[in-house]
Amino acid sequence: MKLVFLGPPGAGKGTLAVKATVLLKAPHISTGNIFREAIAAGSPLGVKVKAIIDAGKLVDDGTTIELTRERLGQGDVKDSFILDGFPRTIAQAEALAGFSNIDRVINFDVPDSVVIERLSGRLVCRKCGFNWHKTFNPPEKAGVCGKCGGEIYTREDDRAEAVKKRLDIYREQTAPLIGYYREKGLLTDIDARPQVDAIL
Ligand code: AP5
Ligand code: MG
Repeated sequence: MKLVFLGPPGAGKGTLAVKATVLLKAPHISTGNIFREAIAAGSPLGVKVKAIIDAGKLVDDGTTIELTRERLGQGDVKDSFILDGFPRTIAQAEALAGFSNIDRVINFDVPDSVVIERLSGRLVCRKCGFNWHKTFNPPEKAGVCGKCGGEIYTREDDRAEAVKKRLDIYREQTAPLIGYYREKGLLTDIDARPQVDAIL
């Protein structure tokens, strides 16, 4: 099964993908995680995208499409994957159609108030990338990941100003994909407001 998780920032795409990847035995590919790993490694890609991501803007289509094309060309994702955070523009969706056949697009439906509540409390593990939350899913020991023992931090793009930018960009550039995929008969809407265990 080849799935796309579509939705605003903080909708819970990454959190649900971590559960779904086990249930469906489908590798989880998050373009955001790939960029953050590149930043942490100080690679040329990381150096190029750091300021863009920290400000809550989108990385250019050319770079993102090429990175995703290359990842989807690898053997482990020949039959199934969960693509989280790509495509985010119509140009990316059109490019994707040229190198992969998507079975279903899951649209995470959630209001801005919930997005802001989730992002303002999100805590991320620097080592394994797991998403914790100050209120909804706090780690047992403050600052330490309960999955791998890694250090927990707050993403730079979860600052209020960057969140506002990300929501604006989502509405302008990503939300049009809802209609795009609905017209193709590929879209399934889910109510992403309930707690994680109530969704999956
Ligand atoms: P990316 O990492 O993809 O960020 P995003 O799309 O903004 O989404 P988030 O990761 O912020 O939210 P999420 O939906 O995964 O929510 P999460 O599960 O963490 O991209 C980052 C940046 O990279 C972009 O801004 C851009 O610059 C660049 N980029 C990436 N892809 C790109 C592309 N295709 N083109 C161009 N640029 C690209 O949940 C949030 C919090 O809520 C967590 O704390 C979690 O514990 C909690 N939570 C989640 N679900 C629930 C629930 N159901 N109930 C209660 N709490 C919940
Ligand atoms: Mg995410």
